[in-house]
Amino acid sequence: MKILVLGGAGYIGSHVVKDLLANHMEVVVYDDLSTGSQQNLFEKAEFIKGSILDYPALLSAMKKNIDAVILLAGKKAVGESMENPEKYALNNLSGNINVLNAMAESGIKKIVFSSSAAVYGTPQYLPLDENHPLNPMSFYGFTKAEMEKYMQWYDKLKGIKFVSLRYFNAVGYDEEGSIRGLEQNPQNLLPIVMEAISGKRNSMSVFGNDYDTRDGTCIRDYIHVSDLADAHTKALLYLDKNEQSLVLNLGTETGISVLEIIKETERLTGKTVPYKIAPRRPGDPAIVTASAKKAFDALGWKATHSGLENIILSTWRLYQ
Ligand code: UFG
Repeated sequence: MKILVLGGAGYIGSHVVKDLLANHMEVVVYDDLSTGSQQNLFEKAEFIKGSILDYPALLSAMKKNIDAVILLAGKKAVGESMENPEKYALNNLSGNINVLNAMAESGIKKIVFSSSAAVYGTPQYLPLDENHPLNPMSFYGFTKAEMEKYMQWYDKLKGIKFVSLRYFNAVGYDEEGSIRGLEQNPQNLLPIVMEAISGKRNSMSVFGNDYDTRDGTCIRDYIHVSDLADAHTKALLYLDKNEQSLVLNLGTETGISVLEIIKETERLTGKTVPYKIAPRRPGDPAIVTASAKKAFDALGWKATHSGLENIILSTWRLYQ
């Protein structure tokens, strides 16, 4: 199969490309390098520098005998999406509609989409399964939920089949060290812990220690990017054999608290994480964990890289 990976130079995209190549797929990476990095490109994959906002360029990339598209290009900072919704409307909505239209025009019938647990909003029950009502608390989550609706319509009207992968908290780096591009300006917990421990920042904040959880800090479902990557490959193989679209959670079904991440990082690295307890961050639910049963049933997928130790050490290796 020949796969066009939109956003293939990014943090998750580069891990996906590595997995596809390891599974003998032909890969074309299309990325504007706005947040992705040249360092994340693989020699074995063709690279086109381009934006999903550039319809003619996107269309010409799709005319390279592409069998399926993986769409990871997009903006992903939850806080920024609330301050600058225009940026998210443009990239995550207009850009994504361009992708669907270019697929319709070039006759490509399969897409794997990078969605998020942010579509659910505050959990009404746990673990979250795919039937949980969608009530995004951020504009970012809204854009992901909207794209899922667009894909349902393009499935009905244009026969484009999709697998939408709702990632929980993506963490970790390739264990073989073949992906070296660090995220610029990270907004998520683990890279912030790494920056604090390696002296790149003086201190970090733990947002709230008065939640109704075992140690008072928030609990999340941290999933290793190599596990996410594996799910993309399996989703493509699924779409190759099945004419039915799917929406799937990708998580470990295990919750880890903020303090557990910090303590385990200290134990594994032998260093002290400089942190202070800060007020709660608005919009943070106490606990978010996934049911990943559907992904197991449909794809035979299961997280195998997501042990806490591996998550931390694979990240630390890069930040050291
Ligand atoms: N946290 C801190 N200090 C920090 C950063 C984060 O204490 O400096 C805490 C947060 O309050 C939260 C936990 O660490 O309790 C995880 O926070 P992240 O910002 O890393 O991740 P979120 O759970 O808020 O959101 C992430 C992604 C979203 C995705 C969501 C799905 O950023 O894109 O997971 O559950 F939608």
